[in-house]
Amino acid sequence: MKKINIAIDGPAAAGKSTIAKKVAAALDMVYVDTGAMYRAITLAYLEADHDDFEALLSHIDIRLISDNGQRVLLNEEDVTERIRENDVTAHVSFVASQAAVRGFLVDLQQQMTLDKGVVMDGRDIGTTVIPDAELKIYMVASVEERALRRQLDNDMRGISSTVEQLKADIAHRDHLDMTREISPLSKADDALVVDTTGQSIEQVTEKILKMAAEKI
Ligand code: C5P
Repeated sequence: MKKINIAIDGPAAAGKSTIAKKVAAALDMVYVDTGAMYRAITLAYLEADHDDFEALLSHIDIRLISDNGQRVLLNEEDVTERIRENDVTAHVSFVASQAAVRGFLVDLQQQMTLDKGVVMDGRDIGTTVIPDAELKIYMVASVEERALRRQLDNDMRGISSTVEQLKADIAHRDHLDMTREISPLSKADDALVVDTTGQSIEQVTEKILKMAAEKI
């Protein structure tokens, strides 16, 4: 079987992580959630008392552990749950727009893909991190459905939110991610669009597994 990389990009809460995790498990590939890496740096930024990103990054060590998904260690502390909280979500697009932060993480992510066999999800994977990925997906869904899914997610995690507030937050974060200067969220020319609105997790996973089968 040929080893490939799969890039999955798209706006917030379109279903990327859920699907990427399933696709990786089915194909025995490594799943990498790059949003979690930006979130971990955002947590470090919130805990620091300055916004000197170069200095901040010089003290940051991020490790991803595959575990039926992915756990995130920030300087050896497990921050997997903490980085989903509202304060991190509210600041992550600002932190992700910093040139120093993007340079640091894109380097790290590119190293992870050198041996192939990676399903990586994010905003700039098909355009910047792995422009030569064998399969590129651009995943979208209506804002309504994305807010409803995120609300269910938050309920399970014990994070308080309302659907109306989530709709506004998601639209705002998409706007920031699509209009930032460095590698904004956009569809790579050769990415295939998958709309997950009204589709079950199983249906979308099947669809992408079929697409992957053509590349392997
Ligand atoms: O995927 P998730 O919603 O956890 O991503 C959090 C944020 O991290 C995004 O809104 C975006 O600002 C940033 N991000 C990015 N590039 C990536 C992945 C995430 O800028 N490859």
